[in-house]
Amino acid sequence: MEPEIEKKENEAHLDHTLRPSRFDDYIGQETIKENLKILLRAAEERNHPAEHILFYGPPGLGKTTLAHLIAKETGRSLKATSGPAIEKVGDLASILTNLQPGDILFVDEIHRLNKTIEEVLYPAMESGVLDIIIGKGPSARTIQLDLPPFTLVAATTRIALLSAPLRSRFSGGTFRLEFYTEEEIAKIIRRSADILGVNADDSAIVEIAKRCRFTPRTANYFLKRCRDYAQVHKKDLDQKTVFLALALLGIDELGLSESDRQVLIVLIEKFNGGPVGLGTLAAATSEEDATIEEVIEPYLIRRGLLERTPRGRIATKKAYEHLGFDYPEKEE
Ligand code: ADE
Repeated sequence: MEPEIEKKENEAHLDHTLRPSRFDDYIGQETIKENLKILLRAAEERNHPAEHILFYGPPGLGKTTLAHLIAKETGRSLKATSGPAIEKVGDLASILTNLQPGDILFVDEIHRLNKTIEEVLYPAMESGVLDIIIGKGPSARTIQLDLPPFTLVAATTRIALLSAPLRSRFSGGTFRLEFYTEEEIAKIIRRSADILGVNADDSAIVEIAKRCRFTPRTANYFLKRCRDYAQVHKKDLDQKTVFLALALLGIDELGLSESDRQVLIVLIEKFNGGPVGLGTLAAATSEEDATIEEVIEPYLIRRGLLERTPRGRIATKKAYEHLGFDYPEKEE
């Protein structure tokens, strides 16, 4: 992941104060919230832990926040881990056997779990048992341990990398987080500004909302950087300050960063606007395939600047115009 995005993520990770702790404070993703409320309420009425839940979608949209909310709203405790942190079957066995009945187990980046470990997870999710093989060769035998009942809440930015058997075990539901609307983002920024005690006027909030990739994590990051700029330059936090602070960060009017623009520029200048395959585009821009696919592309697509076709990625007319290139009218 490129340093700029990583920095944003780390910073936001540290900032728990902005994270809503009740469904009522969580803005947006309305359909998901409604579904979760019903799922949790019904499970509670049956006096049973909720079934397993999977969240997917681009980074920064609130997958982890929702997992924490599920735990808070149901008064259960949350144990958090991630796909890459579970290296051996023994790691998973230890996590599962140490759960208390009713705990929420949150596994972030579940697409990075290795195959052998995944296979241990299947019976744990489906039947609440752990199959452990003891010994090797002809004398090897399997023992089965009963696990405390638990709810797995998993998150991924790459649903396509999850195997069909794993996906099918999220019997509580698989929910795709959507980009937020500008109005929802404006509400989130207003809420964050109030919590941080930042005096931002409406024009500043609207301007940040326009440029933050429809993503709360980025919105909160921009808010804090604009607050810093206003403080150091002894200015009010208004629209003009947002212009200046975000220009300094290399963010343009559509919210594109230097690396977003670079992908489009390379696509236009080196590949005539495409179509070009992901691997080729990644090599030409010195980005990881995954960064382009998970972080950069979803927003460019949402903005109508890039299209994904079976033959590869294409820069749209809007991308040419935004970056000041002449659009070659192509023959059909
Ligand atoms: N902070 C980050 N995401 C949020 C959301 N969806 N609602 C309220 N505050 C947030």
